[in-house]
Amino acid sequence: MPGRALVTGVAGFIGSHLADALLRRGARVVGLDRLPLDRGCAAANLRSSLGHPAFEYVQTDLRHDDLATAVAGADVVFHLAGQPGVRPSWGEAFPEYLTCNVLATHRLMAECEKQHVPRLVLASSSSVYGQINAGERCREDAPTRPISPYGVTKLAAEQLCLAFAQRPAATTSVVALRYFTVYGPRQRADMLIDRALRAALYGAPLRVFGDGSARRDFTYVDDVVCATLAAATAEARAEVINVGGGRSVSVTELLEIVGRAAGASVPTCSTHDQPGDVGATLADPRKAGEILGWKPHVDVATGVVRHLAWMRRHTPVSPDTTEEVAS
Ligand SMILES: NC(=O)c1ccc[n+]([C@@H]2O[C@H](COP(=O)([O-])OP(=O)(O)OC[C@H]3O[C@@H](n4cnc5c(N)ncnc54)[C@H](O)[C@@H]3O)[C@@H](O)[C@H]2O)c1
Repeated sequence: MPGRALVTGVAGFIGSHLADALLRRGARVVGLDRLPLDRGCAAANLRSSLGHPAFEYVQTDLRHDDLATAVAGADVVFHLAGQPGVRPSWGEAFPEYLTCNVLATHRLMAECEKQHVPRLVLASSSSVYGQINAGERCREDAPTRPISPYGVTKLAAEQLCLAFAQRPAATTSVVALRYFTVYGPRQRADMLIDRALRAALYGAPLRVFGDGSARRDFTYVDDVVCATLAAATAEARAEVINVGGGRSVSVTELLEIVGRAAGASVPTCSTHDQPGDVGATLADPRKAGEILGWKPHVDVATGVVRHLAWMRRHTPVSPDTTEEVAS
């Protein structure tokens, strides 16, 4: 375990789980996010970290604030901050995607290099692959042809970090992890499983884009955290590694799984496919096994039950009618 870790995007879904896991393993954690603790989910996501003596929260915007103090002394930087979500990336929000995913990553990477941080672990995305053929598993050396502005910015961030790390005199090595649709407690409220669970529990119809045949390689957040921790110390200079369960489930199958877990079917209404949504994602997880010694442990049925149990304990009820299937 790193002695001191910087986690960017710590107030978000995956970042907050990563901080919890690092603290449980005895690391000192500087958690960075642009959110004030009185806004959105930040305080709720960080409920256990904030009381921990080895945790320090810094409210910093990676796009323009000074990063020197936050980065100082870090053994590893976990860079999870970013603007997620495929569909909104087409619209007027694109400058947010460009600045939060690309410019911010460049500023952080440059600061890591300047301060000789040994390792940066980057949260990249399966969205960099674009459309794949049915049943095809994405290997890390497959062509990258993102079909959404979000995917383009994630690919740019990945390539930027790798370019830094491949320079002859580079001091910061990089592991870019391509996360495949992550779910579990604290999942962003715009994502499919969270919305489907709320629809099953509270009855408001879930809007399903397309005919339900889109497939996703859903990956449970605890598995993603394990891979991310392993990436801190893995033998690597500039690597891209898939973090996906290696099994894809269609939206229709997923809604059946959610319905069984919740004891009530998911009410739905359908609308057409959205631009940027790929037909399927499916990871080839072998490289993660070889380099990180990682394999997923939580299948979708088990993960959905855990997500549901958390939701029943914590969620303020607010049924909604849209969904996000890719990230
Ligand atoms: N959730 C998924 O399924 C998924 C899949 C693939 C990749 N990813 C990537 O993983 C990372 C985390 O995703 P998440 O689902 O936890 O998202 P999230 O939105 O819950 O967390 C992201 C956090 O980053 C912070 N942030 C954004 N821009 C910032 C900036 N300029 N300065 C400081 N903080 C900033 C946000 O405030 C937020 O708290 C993202 O980079 C995302 O692109 C997520």
